Amino acid sequence: MRDEKDFEGLQQSMTTEHSFLKNRFLRPVDTSNELKHLLWQELALSKLIGGWIPAIPVYEHKIELGRLCYVHNRNVKCLYERIEELPGGMHDKDWMPDITREAFERMFGAPDEHAFLISYLYIHRQLYAQYDALVAKLDPVLNAPTLDQIKIIFIEREATQRWLHEQLQFVHCSSEEGSRKLVEWERYIKTVWAAFRANAFAVDASAVVWPANLVKNPAGPLPEKAKLESKYPRYTNPKPQQSYTDTSMSVLHDSVKQMIYIYATEIFAGETLSCIYYYVDRMPLPFYFDLARHMWDEFRHSQMGMRRLLQMGHSVDQFQWLGGPGKQDVKEHFTELYANLTMLGEACGFKKKRKSAEAFWKFGDVLSAITCEFDLIDERRHIDFSVRWGPELFKKADMIITYQEMAEKTRIRRLTELDSVPAEEIAKLAKNFPIFCSFHTSELAYHNY
Ligand SMILES: [Fe+2]
Ligand SMILES: [Fe+2]
Repeated sequence: MRDEKDFEGLQQSMTTEHSFLKNRFLRPVDTSNELKHLLWQELALSKLIGGWIPAIPVYEHKIELGRLCYVHNRNVKCLYERIEELPGGMHDKDWMPDITREAFERMFGAPDEHAFLISYLYIHRQLYAQYDALVAKLDPVLNAPTLDQIKIIFIEREATQRWLHEQLQFVHCSSEEGSRKLVEWERYIKTVWAAFRANAFAVDASAVVWPANLVKNPAGPLPEKAKLESKYPRYTNPKPQQSYTDTSMSVLHDSVKQMIYIYATEIFAGETLSCIYYYVDRMPLPFYFDLARHMWDEFRHSQMGMRRLLQMGHSVDQFQWLGGPGKQDVKEHFTELYANLTMLGEACGFKKKRKSAEAFWKFGDVLSAITCEFDLIDERRHIDFSVRWGPELFKKADMIITYQEMAEKTRIRRLTELDSVPAEEIAKLAKNFPIFCSFHTSELAYHNY
């Protein structure tokens, strides 16, 4: 039998007196508190990176930040796993302290991409300085399982700092004015950080005196409109009746290689999820673990598609590119955005991807075939994620709905958008998944390479 009560009692006893000797060592409960403090900072950082991705114009930077958003989420998971073993654990209702949220929002209310990267690098250094201090204090025998988790968190420390430093080293390298602004921004975030550190365990977050905001209209997180470099021509026609049927989108329209173009466009699926990841608060932590993985997978899908297009000798100006969601869209329609992606795009995509893999094998295009195979593995997990979290996300918008109802509702909305389906047919069609998919999406030219 578990004598948890006795143990919890022990945790509380003897904690009121100040003792120099006691302060040198961490009890299980102290360890848990230290890890929780780091966990909420990691989550705040990870969410803000996600929210900033659509505000960053350079494609490769979006991809890298998608990865880093996931890496910080993985750090949260490492901490969470250890906290679960320690007294008190973690509960679904637990959420980030207001002061952490407030401090990080202020430090990331940056005027542009470079200031954002300065904030990220600064916070990254501060975060790891706290890990270093904690590691120095952890008992290598008693607290070895905690050290093991932190070792995982340390793996990408150097690489991340190097990447951030490289982005910043020569920014505004010929501009006095630009350099002044960078220095001012760094000074500002240092002051916010000092206020956060001084009050991190304060009971009343509203009493903290923050420096006045330096920027009136920050460029992120969640920009009004998602950005993308001008070398990627934007798709501006009205949405086609069936996805990807507008032949002007791609020079590969009449080839099975269109599948590779479709993968490359999935940067916008990644951005949709990174925005939801940022915007939706107070969900259980496992929701963020699954959503971050889902988001990173979509950035990988775009990356694998883009890489293959370039290997095939294509250039990005031969295609048109879809835009990610803007601020209003995310705020008003996050449930629909999630449902459209998972219930329409992902659910209806399997057949097309399997047939593309077969065709690529037949044509001897091994790398494209394997690309589809890895994608299918990821997509199967994404469906599992949406079955688990879709209804929970709808609850956030005060809608109680089962997964089945959510899928049907999404299909009905999609069929209503199509002018070709008579109103009386819609409810029936929405229940028939294969037929519904033939309305939503089109087949590819599997016989042409
Ligand atoms: Fe995907
Ligand atoms: Fe997916």
